Amino acid sequence: MKVAVMGYGTVGSGVVEVIADNQELIAKRIGEAVEVKYILDIREFPGDRFEDKIVHDVNLIMDDPEVGVVCEVMGGVGVAYQFTKMALERGKSVCTSNKELVAKHGPELLQVAAANHCSYLFEASVGGGIPIIRPLNNALTAEKIEMITGILNGTTNYILTKMEREGADFADVLKEAQEKGYAERNPEADVEGHDACRKISILSSLMTGKTVNSEKVYTEGITKVTASDFVYAKAMGRSIKLLGMSCDQGDEVQVMVAPSMISNQNPLYMVSDVFNAILVRGNMLGDSMYYGRGAGKLPTASAVVADVIDCVKNAGKNIPCLWSPEEAKIADIAEVERKFFLRVSASGMDAVKAAFPGGQVITVEGREDAGYVTASVKEKEFAAKCETLGDVVLSKIRMGE
Ligand code: HSE
Repeated sequence: MKVAVMGYGTVGSGVVEVIADNQELIAKRIGEAVEVKYILDIREFPGDRFEDKIVHDVNLIMDDPEVGVVCEVMGGVGVAYQFTKMALERGKSVCTSNKELVAKHGPELLQVAAANHCSYLFEASVGGGIPIIRPLNNALTAEKIEMITGILNGTTNYILTKMEREGADFADVLKEAQEKGYAERNPEADVEGHDACRKISILSSLMTGKTVNSEKVYTEGITKVTASDFVYAKAMGRSIKLLGMSCDQGDEVQVMVAPSMISNQNPLYMVSDVFNAILVRGNMLGDSMYYGRGAGKLPTASAVVADVIDCVKNAGKNIPCLWSPEEAKIADIAEVERKFFLRVSASGMDAVKAAFPGGQVITVEGREDAGYVTASVKEKEFAAKCETLGDVVLSKIRMGE
């Protein structure tokens, strides 16, 4: 089986490397050699180990009957969408790490694949190298999945972990992460939660079998979390994590991305640094957790190549995936009831207690501000009351399990 790789960036070069370096092992496992024939990129790579495979014309790939699998690791939703569709229409399976494309056009591309007896696989689009799509589609097929909660973004988990351990503020840690190359120069997709939003939308779509439209998912990033908030989290035996949360409620799905103060009893509590983890609750199995490296060249490439191998094993057949284009109804989060943590200026505590009766004051010695955990309150009531409280509220973070 010959493979084409579209996009010779970080993940693309990893895919070529994994296929080349594990060639013998892969051949032994599936009884067939897998080889990269083309690497499509607009750039030249003089002196590169695989320079002879670089091409600039996509038609070379599309018109070559030897190519049965294409890896789309270009990113974006323009050309990547066009080339993916083109390959699937010609009966070539496509394996991708492109979460943006999967979240936006996944169900359509799955239908094109099914109609052309090939497959569209996207294990690497969520959780990088962590197997999560395959468990949801295969190992857990006897389960009704009720809830998925995940730390789905390595950059923000790294930043929050540093803030927690070093007492540093968001802007300083972000700057350092950018200098070390852990965070993008334009970090918006990560720190504002958009990347995690696409990933939880993909997982929610697989959970419900319908399309959870990522553009309708409430998304809040980590830019307002402060080092002071971690002081109170620690005092309560908690940590702050950016969570993608999704819960199947039958006729609707409750889904959101937001920082959450979780207890040290939550299995996600110990997930630190760049690591990702996804906690899945099934109606028979209960909780299971999938943990590992959610980003990076080789972990992500490994997941793409696992999909390539699946396509080779299923050549000429469609690997089904239950994800229909019908939009899932997303629950209005304004109606959801939960507890909230507030960090409050010394002068504002009485007003906060009056606005949210029945809560608990958290004090930490030597601090001028104080913490307050509300009783359960509807999101919309919480937001309205915070509005009237004004500047006395310094921070607000949802309490988690
Ligand atoms: N920017 C992403 C992260 C990469 O930090 O997790 C993987 O999607």
